[in-house]
Amino acid sequence: MCGIVGYVGSKKAIDILLEGLTNLEYRGYDSAGVAVNVDGKVQLYKAEGKLQNLKDVVEKNYAEISKSTIGIGHIRWATHGAPSIINAHPHTCNCGKVAVVHNGIIENFKELREKLEKEGCTFRSQTDTETVAHLVASKFAKTKDLTEAVRLATKEIEGAYALCVIHQDVKDTIVATRRNAPLLVGLGENEYYIASDVPAIIQYTKKAMYLDDNQIVTVTPSSMKLIDIDNNPIQGKIETLPWEPVALSKMGYKHFMLKEIHEQPDVVRNVLSGKLRAMDEPITLKEVTLDKEKLKNLSRIQIVACGTSLHAAMVGKYIIEDFCGISVDVEPSSEYIYRKTITDKNTLVIGVSQSGETADTITAVRQAKAKGSHILIVTNRPDSTMAREADSLVPVYAGIEVSVAATKSYMAQLISFYLLAIYMAEIKGSMDVNELKDLKHELIVLPQKIEKVLAHKEDIQKCARAFSGSKDFIFIARGINYPTALEGALKLKEISYINATGYTAGELKHGPIAMLDETMPVLSILMKGKVYDKILSNSEEAKARNARMIALTDSSDTKLNELFDYIIRIPEISEILSPALAVVPLQLLAYYIAEFLGKDVDQPRNLAKSVTVE
Ligand code: F6R
Repeated sequence: MCGIVGYVGSKKAIDILLEGLTNLEYRGYDSAGVAVNVDGKVQLYKAEGKLQNLKDVVEKNYAEISKSTIGIGHIRWATHGAPSIINAHPHTCNCGKVAVVHNGIIENFKELREKLEKEGCTFRSQTDTETVAHLVASKFAKTKDLTEAVRLATKEIEGAYALCVIHQDVKDTIVATRRNAPLLVGLGENEYYIASDVPAIIQYTKKAMYLDDNQIVTVTPSSMKLIDIDNNPIQGKIETLPWEPVALSKMGYKHFMLKEIHEQPDVVRNVLSGKLRAMDEPITLKEVTLDKEKLKNLSRIQIVACGTSLHAAMVGKYIIEDFCGISVDVEPSSEYIYRKTITDKNTLVIGVSQSGETADTITAVRQAKAKGSHILIVTNRPDSTMAREADSLVPVYAGIEVSVAATKSYMAQLISFYLLAIYMAEIKGSMDVNELKDLKHELIVLPQKIEKVLAHKEDIQKCARAFSGSKDFIFIARGINYPTALEGALKLKEISYINATGYTAGELKHGPIAMLDETMPVLSILMKGKVYDKILSNSEEAKARNARMIALTDSSDTKLNELFDYIIRIPEISEILSPALAVVPLQLLAYYIAEFLGKDVDQPRNLAKSVTVE
């Protein structure tokens, strides 16, 4: 979604702002803008659409703009008001001296706007953000102090925000603050960077300070001052950012998505490292602080997540129930938060999120926390808002994921669920020792099996070419691979815009079978195990309706050749671990279909990498 970059120092601010915004592009946006201060005057440059349009605008005035050594920049994902130049950030007050960029939603903007209009402010955009510019200007008129003006403004603002503010009359100063939206300050030599996410600044500095809610930071080239909303000074914690700038390079791949799919063997190794040491040693999850006695007595587990993370959670349900015998409910966070929160201290609530910033999931875990549940967060971002809510944390270590479509983070979430389920089973003593050893061994050799799938990607490419003209797609599976069918369908629809749906194979004849004819491809996930024969029968039913059939299987049974038009074979794997292997060809299939169709694979239309609004 929206992204923020700010800079104050001695370099050309515009270069840093545009580079930073480029590195946030993956989050999804529809317009962009910057504010700089040239010869004591705040100047705005904005453009609708891709960042390149803003770069073209800047290019024409580069000699002038590049004089500024201070600036703020933004990419906007429209919430209030259409994507347009008028609604693009930065927004200014009447006289244009205050410029503001904002991520989040100001919930009481209508009331504030009415009040400010009565005071004489003229609004130009439909955004909630413009209210902040007028409000800060109104406070500044009384206090003549930008930090104080921002502080007083935030006392009146309700909702979620990360804000970055400059004022024409307050030389070389940026004031930034946050509530329920991420923001960090990067520290350089006589320079400071502000960003809503690490990729915006990682190539300039690895030294950073994360802001907490309601903290206000004021930076100049030579100083940084941090206060809370009640004006008390705070000592910020300076951290070293864990990423290398190289994470933002495609490393020769055509798209980030393809690169990230190929990183999955190493992602599995990373997730297992230090946690699964040997087959006869118990799993260690040092950030899981749930008391062992409490864990043994858990009556229920609830998992909340959205999108791809929800599919990982569904696999998690299957394996935790299987290994530990504890009942697990999985629910989309956006549903969980709008009904009665029935949970208690004997229920473990697990939030799963790649970004750790998904608004619905944050709200869901907060609601559960308020009821006394232990909150365990599975996230790729241990620095995120959600991680800060955690009683226990399972960091998944997939590395930065740039492609909007989640792939390697899904893999990391799955492997984390296997580790968590084994960890709990070992404490509860609920699983057979030999079964445990076999499973651990399979986890250790999983990266090699994924590598084998990747080595045969040309087969999947051929299949993708054959089916890229389809308007619809059905994925069927049963049991533990039902979430794999959902994930395969989600990947395909989000990057190729083909209408794809995942069904449990048994549900096919309760309705969806009516859609089947020669125009409808059906992809059956046929992994050897207890539901193999059942899915085979369901596939035959589909074939009898002339559907074009694709099998994804670890079986070498040649009889499948008669039934299926296309067979994607993967290495043999136990049914319980099969979701972690079966998803890889589905990611590749979606990728190649989208690529054949010439879609914007890494930044599909309308989508955002982290959905920070409910
Ligand atoms: C799909 C995708 C989204 C996210 C969803 C949740 O490829 O990326 O469906 O999975 O928006 O995001 P996180 O995991 O960050 O909470």
